[in-house]
Amino acid sequence: MADTITVFKGDGIGPEITDSVLRILDAAGADLNYEVFNVGAAEYEAHGELIPKEGYASMEKTHILLKSPITKGFRSLNVTLRKKYDLYANIRPAKTNSAVKTAFENVDIVIFRENTEDLYAGVEEMIDKDTVHSIKIITRRCCERIIRAAFDYAVSHNRKKVTCVHKANIMKMADGMFRDIFYDISKEYPDIEADDKIVDNVAMQLVMHPEKFDIIVTENLYGDVLSDLVSGLIGGLGLLPSSNLGKDFAMFEAVHGSAPDIAGQGIANPTAFLWSACMLLEHIGKNDVAAKIRKAVDLVLEDGSVLTPDIGGTATTIEYEKAIIAHL
Ligand code: NAI
Repeated sequence: MADTITVFKGDGIGPEITDSVLRILDAAGADLNYEVFNVGAAEYEAHGELIPKEGYASMEKTHILLKSPITKGFRSLNVTLRKKYDLYANIRPAKTNSAVKTAFENVDIVIFRENTEDLYAGVEEMIDKDTVHSIKIITRRCCERIIRAAFDYAVSHNRKKVTCVHKANIMKMADGMFRDIFYDISKEYPDIEADDKIVDNVAMQLVMHPEKFDIIVTENLYGDVLSDLVSGLIGGLGLLPSSNLGKDFAMFEAVHGSAPDIAGQGIANPTAFLWSACMLLEHIGKNDVAAKIRKAVDLVLEDGSVLTPDIGGTATTIEYEKAIIAHL
């Protein structure tokens, strides 16, 4: 029986790239049923809710969400979804591609960012009118699950090394615990190399020697900063997919936003969102369909004659989509 997934269309270029990606999934034989909802700023203006109740109900039934970008402003829908469904692991694979020229070669890094605690727990207190305390919360449970997720991924994706990134020289208790748990858990994975590095050193090393990194596992704040740095190494946000995984739910989305400057022009690049959909397919065991789509995208990018403007071409979203479908 076909799997059913929930799809949120979002704002700006969201609807355009969603339509393209769903057509590519169908053409590749993904055999999925879609429950599609409009969400985000436009939905809020029309009906007073960022996500319609039926959208939540669908997510709670399918447990799998493909979400296109939304225009932020008043309330972060992403934070809402991460908290509500405890999507604790934010995974961002970044790989250099021959179609996009950058100063860096051989980048193939996957960042595992803890998504639910750290300074992002939002615990802040006004001590007096000139003093604010912002509390960094690190718990054993959340350290263990993100670190285990990184090692499990290393095993299932044939990766060689996991690097723990921290600042334990200063935050001896919080980051010290993160690093200690990392080494405890690493003993369960004897075939995967484990090492640790201090975050400021990593920022420098990523620019000097990105090829030395494989999988990075880190806390929320460091992961937020480093994943944007890594996206710069591979040529920007247009080619960066992501997944947000929890124990019971999973959400897949491009790292980029709703790109209001090009919305409605039919020139958005759907690749990051398509690769996010490939991560979804792999998550539900449809690895062969994902591989077929990835191969077709690689062929189109390598050929270089049908590319969207953000990566140096003149093609429309639909021309690019058709080229991918032709290569499936
Ligand atoms: P953005 O990522 O939407 O756009 C930055 C630049 O990259 C723009 O010039 C845009 O045209 C280009 N770009 C982005 N994606 C592209 C694509 N697929 N194809 C071609 N060009 C692309 O970032 P910006 O402009 O800072 O944010 C716009 C809105 O999106 C804001 O409201 C922001 O808060 C929201 N946002 C939403 C996210 C999400 O829903 N996950 C993530 C990041 C931003």
